Amino acid sequence: MKFSSQVLAACAALLEFTTAASTFSPARPPAIPLAVKSPYFNTLQYAGSDGGNGGYLYGQWPTFWAGAITAWAGMIKVDNATYSWMGDIPNTQTVTQTAFSYTSTRSIFTMNVDGKVEMDITFLSPLTPDDQKRQSLVFSYMDVAVESMDGAAHDVQLYTDISAEWVSGNRGSTAQWEYGTTSDGISYHRVWRQDQPEFSETNDQADWGYWYWATERTESLSFQSGADVDVRGAFMANGKLADSNDTNYRPINQNFPVFGFSIGLGSVTGSVSTLYTLGLTQENAIQFDGATGIVPLTSLWTSYFSSETDALSFVYNDYSTASTTATTLDNKISSEATAAAGQNYLTIVSLSARQAFGATQLVGNTTKEYLFLKEISSDGNVQTVDVIFPFYPILIYLQPSLAKLLLDPLFENQESGQYPNMYSMHDLGAHYPNATGHPDGLDEPQPLEECGNMLIMTLAYAQKSNDNAYLSQHYKILNQWTQYLVAEALIPANQISTDDFAGSLTNQTNLALKGIIGIGAMAQIANLTGNTADAENYTSIAQNYIDQWQTLGIAHDATPPHTTLAYGMNDTHGLLYNLYGDKLLNLGLVPQSVYDMQSAFYPTVNDEYGVPLDTRHNYTKSDWEMWTAAIAGVETRNMFIDDLAKWISATPTNQAFTDLYDAQTADWPIDAGHFSARPVVGGHFALLALTNPA
Ligand SMILES: *[C@@H]1O[C@H](CO)[C@@H](O)[C@H](O)[C@H]1NC(C)=O
Ligand SMILES: *[C@@H]1O[C@H](CO)[C@@H](O)[C@H](O)[C@H]1NC(C)=O
Ligand SMILES: *[C@@H]1O[C@H](CO)[C@@H](O)[C@H](O)[C@H]1NC(C)=O
Ligand SMILES: *[C@@H]1O[C@H](CO)[C@@H](O)[C@H](O)[C@H]1NC(C)=O
Ligand SMILES: *[C@@H]1O[C@H](CO)[C@@H](O)[C@H](O)[C@H]1NC(C)=O
Ligand SMILES: *[C@@H]1O[C@H](CO)[C@@H](O)[C@H](O)[C@H]1NC(C)=O
Ligand SMILES: *[C@@H]1O[C@H](CO)[C@@H](O)[C@H](O)[C@H]1NC(C)=O
Ligand SMILES: *[C@@H]1O[C@H](CO)[C@@H](O)[C@H](O)[C@H]1NC(C)=O
Ligand SMILES: *[C@@H]1O[C@H](CO)[C@@H](O)[C@H](O)[C@H]1NC(C)=O
Repeated sequence: MKFSSQVLAACAALLEFTTAASTFSPARPPAIPLAVKSPYFNTLQYAGSDGGNGGYLYGQWPTFWAGAITAWAGMIKVDNATYSWMGDIPNTQTVTQTAFSYTSTRSIFTMNVDGKVEMDITFLSPLTPDDQKRQSLVFSYMDVAVESMDGAAHDVQLYTDISAEWVSGNRGSTAQWEYGTTSDGISYHRVWRQDQPEFSETNDQADWGYWYWATERTESLSFQSGADVDVRGAFMANGKLADSNDTNYRPINQNFPVFGFSIGLGSVTGSVSTLYTLGLTQENAIQFDGATGIVPLTSLWTSYFSSETDALSFVYNDYSTASTTATTLDNKISSEATAAAGQNYLTIVSLSARQAFGATQLVGNTTKEYLFLKEISSDGNVQTVDVIFPFYPILIYLQPSLAKLLLDPLFENQESGQYPNMYSMHDLGAHYPNATGHPDGLDEPQPLEECGNMLIMTLAYAQKSNDNAYLSQHYKILNQWTQYLVAEALIPANQISTDDFAGSLTNQTNLALKGIIGIGAMAQIANLTGNTADAENYTSIAQNYIDQWQTLGIAHDATPPHTTLAYGMNDTHGLLYNLYGDKLLNLGLVPQSVYDMQSAFYPTVNDEYGVPLDTRHNYTKSDWEMWTAAIAGVETRNMFIDDLAKWISATPTNQAFTDLYDAQTADWPIDAGHFSARPVVGGHFALLALTNPA
C-alpha cells in the first residue's frame, strides 16, 4: 500500500498531537511497571500501540502481566472539579500527563491538573538483593505528591481504590474483605478469595493469599467498600467516602467491589505527599519435592514477622529507608551501566531490573532459604534451568549469593534421587508454584543444554562467592553431568536448545560450544576441589573438543567467516551467545580469534532492531543479544545495544518487555509465540556481570 505524502504528514501530525502531551524518559517502554515484585504481584500499564495507550496512567486500566485487568483507580478533586489520574473511569475528565520517567526501581508520572496543581506519582517496587528480609516482602509503594502550580491555594481531595480483580484470575469466584487499622495507625483494606485454594492459579494469578491496600489513618481519611460506581460516585459527589463496609461478599465481577480511600489534603500550596502500599501475603508459597519428598514451603517473610499486619506496618513505616535504598541501587546501576556502555545500555537494564526479580520469590525460613523462579509466560514451569541461565547475569552482578538459593532446589531434588535421568533436569515442576519434580523423568528433554548450564552456573557462583565447598558438596552430580557432555557435546544429537521454539537440529554449533565450555568449567571445578586427575583429564578433553569445534562449526571460506548454525551448513549463522560462558568464567578456552571473527561478522547480518537469532527465522532474542554484545568488540557491542534501546521506544508490542521479537519490524514474531514479562531480561545485565570482580 502506498500513502500520499499529505496522508503521511497528517498521520505524523496526529501522532504528534496525541503523544505530545507527555515526555518519556529515558524511553517509552512497551509496558510500564507499576507494582512488580513477584510472579503473582506483577501489574503494569500497557503502553505499546498493540492495544496500549502510549504510556499514560489514565484512560486504561492497569493490567496483570498475563493480560487481565487489575483495576487500580485514582481521582483528584481540585476546587470541586473531579479528574481521574489512573485507570479508565467513566464520566470523568482526566488530568494531563506531562512527563514519565523510569529508573531500575521506580516509575514516575507527572500530571498537570488544569494548571492549578501538579501531581508527582511514584510507583516504587523495591529491589533489595542484599537484604532478604525486605526482598521477601511482596509489597510495593505508591507515593502521590500534590503541589500548587500557580502559587494560589487550592482545595484538594485525593481518591484511590483497588478492585477485587487482584485476588484471583477467576472473576466468577467470591471475594471477601474487611477494613481495619493497625495499632500504629495504618488503615487497610484486606481482600481475598473466599475459598483460598492453596497453590492454585487461574490465568496465572494466584487464587490464595491476602491482599493489603493501605495508607496512614489521618483525620481526613475516609474509606468505603462497595460497587465501583457507588464508591467512585461517592467521591465524585462528596469529595469523601462514607466510612462504610459492603458486607455482601460476592463474585469479583458482580457489581465489581472496590476498596477506596479518600483523603482531604485541605488547602494546598506547598507539596503534600500521601503514601499508599499494596501487597500480597501468602503463608505458604511453594510445594517442593526436596530431600524428604513433597513439602509446603512458607514465604520467607513469615520468618521475620509474626503476622500479616506486622509485615504491613513494617513496610508502611519503612518507606524512607526503602526509598533511600532504592535510590542507592538506582544510582549504582545508572552509573555503572553508563560507564560500561552508555545511556542506551542504561535504558535497557533499568527497564529490566524489576521484571527480572519480579519472576522470583524468596521462600523457606531463615535456616533454609530458597529463591524460586517462575518461567513466566512461556509455560509457567518452576526453576527452569535454561531460563535461570539467561537470567543469571543480574544475580552475578547484584548479589551472587542469591544464585545459590536458586540452584539449591535443583541439586536437592536430583541428589536425593528423585529424578531418574543421568543428565540434568530441565525444570522442577510443570507449573509454578508446584516444584514437585519429575520422578518419571519426562520433563522437556534438553540434556546438553541443561548439563552445560548447571556446570557453568555452579562454577560462576562459586567463583564470585569464593565458595569451593559448594563445588565439593555437589562434585558427584556435577561429574555425572560431565560424563554426558564428554559423550554428547562435540557431535550434538538432534535435539532442542533453550530456543526450543526455533526447532530441533543436529550438530548445533552454539549448543556444542555450551557443552564444551561446560567440560571446561568442570576442569576448573575439579581443580578447585583438589581432583587433580579429573582436572587434567577434563582440561585436555575441553581443549581437544574446542580445536575440533573450530573446524566443524566455522564457515572459514565465507566472507566474512563466521560460526554456523550447524556443522557444515556454511550459509547459515546465529548468535553465538554461549561464548559468553568462556568469558564469564575466565576459562580462556576459546581463542580470541573466534571472538574477533564474530564481532566482525554480526554487523554484516544486522537488521533494523538487531541480529536475528539464527537464519531459520527473522526474530531475535534480547537476552542473547546482550550476552553476545557483552563479549563483542566495542563497535559491535554498541550496535547491539543501540538497536535494542531503539526497539524499546519503537516496538508496537504492548506487554512487559518481550525477549522475543521480529528484528525487522520490532513487532511480535509472526512464527513464534508471544513472550512477555520473562525473567530472562536479567540477561541484559551481561556486560555488568563481567565488571563484577567479586
Ligand atoms: C466547593 O463546593 C462547596 C460546596 O458546594 C462550596 O462551599 C465551595 O465554595 C466550593 N469551592 C470552590 C473553590 O469552588
Ligand atoms: C467496617 O468493618 C470493619 C471490619 O471489617 C470494622 O472494624 C468497622 O467497624 C466497620 N465499619 C463500619 C462503619 O461498619
Ligand atoms: C498445584 O498442585 C495442587 C495440588 O497439590 C493443585 O491443586 C494446584 O492446582 C496446582 N497448581 C497449579 C498452578 O497447577
Ligand atoms: C526450616 O526449613 C527447613 C527446610 O524446609 C525445615 O526442615 C525446618 O524444619 C524449618 N525450620 C523451622 C524453624 O521452621
Ligand atoms: C554431524 O556432524 C558430524 C561431524 O561433522 C557428522 O559426521 C555427522 O554426519 C553430522 N550429522 C548430521 C545429521 O549431519
Ligand atoms: C590447579 O591449577 C593450577 C594452575 O594450573 C595448578 O598449579 C594446580 O596444581 C591445580 N590444582 C589441582 C588440584 O589440580
Ligand atoms: C577422562 O574422562 C573420560 C570421561 O569421563 C573417561 O572416559 C576417561 O577414562 C578419563 N581419562 C582419564 C585418563 O582419566
Ligand atoms: C563449508 O566450509 C568448509 C570450510 O570452511 C568446507 O571445508 C566445507 O566443505 C564446506 N561445506 C559445504 C557443505 O560446503
Ligand atoms: C523474513 O523477512 C523476509 C524479508 O523481509 C521476508 O520475506 C520473510 O517472509 C520473513 N520470514 C519470516 C518467517 O518472517
